[in-house]
Amino acid sequence: MENFVVSARKYRPSTFKSVVGQSHITTTLKNAIRNNHLAQAFLFCGPRGVGKTTCARILAKTINCQNLQADTEPCNECESCKSFNASSSFNIHELDAASNNSVDDIRNLVEQVRYAPQSGKYKIYIIDEVHMLSNAAFNAFLKTLEEPPSYAIFILATTEKHKIIPTILSRCQIFDFNRIQVEDISNHLQWIAEKETIETEQEALHLIAQKADGALRDALSIFDLIVTFSGSKVTYQQTISNLHILDYDYYFKVTDALLQQNMSEALLLFDEILRQGFDGHNFIVGLSEHFRNLLVCKDEATIRLLQVSQQIQQRYAGQSQQASLSFLLSALNIASGCDGSYKGSKNQRLHVELALLKMAHIPSVINAASIGDLNQSEVKKKVLA
Ligand SMILES: Nc1ncnc2c1ncn2[C@@H]1O[C@H](COP(=O)(O)OP(=O)(O)OP(=O)(O)O)[C@@H](O)[C@H]1O
Ligand SMILES: [Mg+2]
Ligand SMILES: [Zn+2]
Repeated sequence: MENFVVSARKYRPSTFKSVVGQSHITTTLKNAIRNNHLAQAFLFCGPRGVGKTTCARILAKTINCQNLQADTEPCNECESCKSFNASSSFNIHELDAASNNSVDDIRNLVEQVRYAPQSGKYKIYIIDEVHMLSNAAFNAFLKTLEEPPSYAIFILATTEKHKIIPTILSRCQIFDFNRIQVEDISNHLQWIAEKETIETEQEALHLIAQKADGALRDALSIFDLIVTFSGSKVTYQQTISNLHILDYDYYFKVTDALLQQNMSEALLLFDEILRQGFDGHNFIVGLSEHFRNLLVCKDEATIRLLQVSQQIQQRYAGQSQQASLSFLLSALNIASGCDGSYKGSKNQRLHVELALLKMAHIPSVINAASIGDLNQSEVKKKVLA
């Protein structure tokens, strides 16, 4: 049997163009390579799992490639690229500052920098989690960073830019990596699923992408987990039960009940949700998000803020038409009030139930108000007549 390799490693991009959602960075890097305008020190910062180490490696490989492609991508075939890909290159040095953060580690590195590369143009030093270096190590490093030999390039990577001392920051060209959009993550998962001949439901991938909160590595790990659990088909139902996420169907049903002022139905649904082991607080937060989604459907201009799969967009649009703007605003208001005071409440179940009852009451309040308006305008008409 073939050894299982986690998707995050198996599908680590090996060219700039296969990096997802960071085109502002890859384009700039490619331009710099093409125009021979490379800085000697880079700082890659941004959230975890978005491609910092990946881009550092691609950059390292590209600038040493002996057969650079017309689109400034590495060829992946020359000797240099091959040895990079097999992690056996002498020109790339990776130091994990999380575990090698002493002055001696940095001194070792500085010592190595003094020797020119034996083959290839550049020697590249990637220092990951650079914020973990001790102060003394930072200081030992400063001099080299300021005046490195012409063949040395440093790529520092960190998730915590604010912990880097200004003297280092000012010596580096800084690149801020983005969190990756749900849509981009979901498309990337789809691409991997096709390669692995795994059948997927779009909604399942969307859910995984949402759960990953912008980190592609997290998305790939969750994906692997669900594939392990469910085999060659990844369905929405399996995904929600695996990730213990409340089915959005419930939010639609609860909202329907509220719109029809059906208090008992709303309370019974909430009871069912609790009995399935879901938490009241998560429910109210999820319900707020559901209202928010209905709200953004109200306007063509904001519809793109709806980050759900295409199949379910229709459903949001449908329910959004049934719910008036006043209902949604008032319901959101009640839900966020409930969310804010949930932790302090002694009877949390009742707290949510009360919020639901208030929400179910909104349509009649709106009705009464509009009848009141009508009456007033009738009165006005009469007065004016
Ligand atoms: N932008 C991206 N495009 C494609 N794949 C990505 C991207 N970002 C992350 N990945 C996937 O996630 C894995 C980990 O990415 P990488 O090591 O580059 O993240 P990182 O930003 O260095 O994270 P950390 O801060 O945790 O070190 C990669 O092997 C790749 O499979
Ligand atoms: Mg990294
Ligand atoms: Zn090459």
